[in-house]
Amino acid sequence: MAPSHSTSKRKTVLPLHIDTASFLNPPAPQGTSFTVGNVLGRRCTAKRPVTFLILLLLMSVGWNVLQYRFDWRQQQQHYGVYDPLPAAPLPHHRHAIIVTGHAIYTGARTNTSAIYDESNWILESYQHGQLGTFIEHIQKGIDILISDPLALLVFSGGQTRPSAGPISEGASYWQVAQILIQQSDQRHHLRNRMIVEDYARDSYENILFSLCRFAEMTNEYPSHLTIIGFDFKRPRFEQLHIPSIRYPLDQFDYIGIDPTNDDDNEAAKRGELANSFTPFSTDLYACRGSLRQKKLDRNPYRRRSPYRSTCPALTPLLDYCPYTNKIFTGPLPWAS
Ligand SMILES: *[C@@H]1O[C@H](CO)[C@@H](O)[C@H](O)[C@H]1NC(C)=O
Repeated sequence: MAPSHSTSKRKTVLPLHIDTASFLNPPAPQGTSFTVGNVLGRRCTAKRPVTFLILLLLMSVGWNVLQYRFDWRQQQQHYGVYDPLPAAPLPHHRHAIIVTGHAIYTGARTNTSAIYDESNWILESYQHGQLGTFIEHIQKGIDILISDPLALLVFSGGQTRPSAGPISEGASYWQVAQILIQQSDQRHHLRNRMIVEDYARDSYENILFSLCRFAEMTNEYPSHLTIIGFDFKRPRFEQLHIPSIRYPLDQFDYIGIDPTNDDDNEAAKRGELANSFTPFSTDLYACRGSLRQKKLDRNPYRRRSPYRSTCPALTPLLDYCPYTNKIFTGPLPWAS
C-alpha cells in the first residue's frame, strides 16, 4: 500500500508541465511572446525566465545537499571525541555467532534446575513449553564457540518486558549460558568470548546490532556470521533480513532449532508468516506500520542504541527508511 500511495503523492508535488520540445526548437516569435534578445545565437523568448528559475532552484538544492553532507562529515569526525573508549579487547576474532533472544530469564545465577523452571522466565502467552528450545539455542551457541577459537558468541535482545525490570534478553541469556558452562574446565575462556547486545527489538535488529556489537569488541566486522534461532524463522533471515543488509550469503549460516511439538510448530509457522514474514517483505527495514509499532511496544524503558556513534559506518543503514522498500545501496563495511 505505502509505495503506491507515495507515488501518487509525489506526482502532485510538482504540477509543472515543461514542454522540452519547445526548449530545443524555440518557436518563431509570435505576436504574444516578446523577444528579449539574442544570446549565443539563440532567440530568448518569454519562456527563458522559466529555465532560469529552474536553474536557480537546482543550484539552491545542490548547495543545500553539499552543505548537509559537509555538516554530516564534520559531526561524524567529532562525535564522541571527548568520551573515551578503551581499545577493542578482542581484536583477533572473525566469526560472530548470534543467539537471538526470545524471552527473559530472571532466576538464580547458579542453580541449573532453575533455568528449566517456567516461573523464572518472563514469557509471552504463546511461549509456554518453549523453554527447552531457548536453552537448546544457547547450548548450540556454546558448542560452536568451543569448536571455533576465532568465534565470539553474541546474545542479542533488548530490555523488552516491563515485568522483567530493566534486564535485557541478551544479558539474561548470557546468565543462562554461565549456568550451562559452570561445570566446564574451559569456562573462563568461554566466558571471555561471550558478549551481550542489549538493544535489539526484532530479528532484523538482532543481526544488524550484533554486527555492530561485534565490531565494538574486535574493531572489525565479522567475516563469518552464524545465527541461531527458530527454524520456522529461517525463510525470513535467508530471504529478507540478510539480503536487506547485503551481508554475503556465502559467509552466513542459519541454524534453526524448533520446539518438538508438531501442532505448536504449525501454529508458529502460521503466526510467523502472518505477523512477521509478510509485514517484513513489504517493509524490509521495519520502519513503518505494525513493525514500527512492535518496536515501540518492546521498548518500555525507552532505550535507544549507541550504534550510530560506535559504528558510524552503519549510520546510513541504521537511518534508512525508503518509501519504495528498495534495498539499501550505500556503502557497507562488509563487501557485497
Ligand atoms: C533451584 O531451582 C529449583 C527450580 O526453580 C528450585 O526448586 C530449587 O529450590 C532451587 N535450589 C536452590 C538451592 O535454590
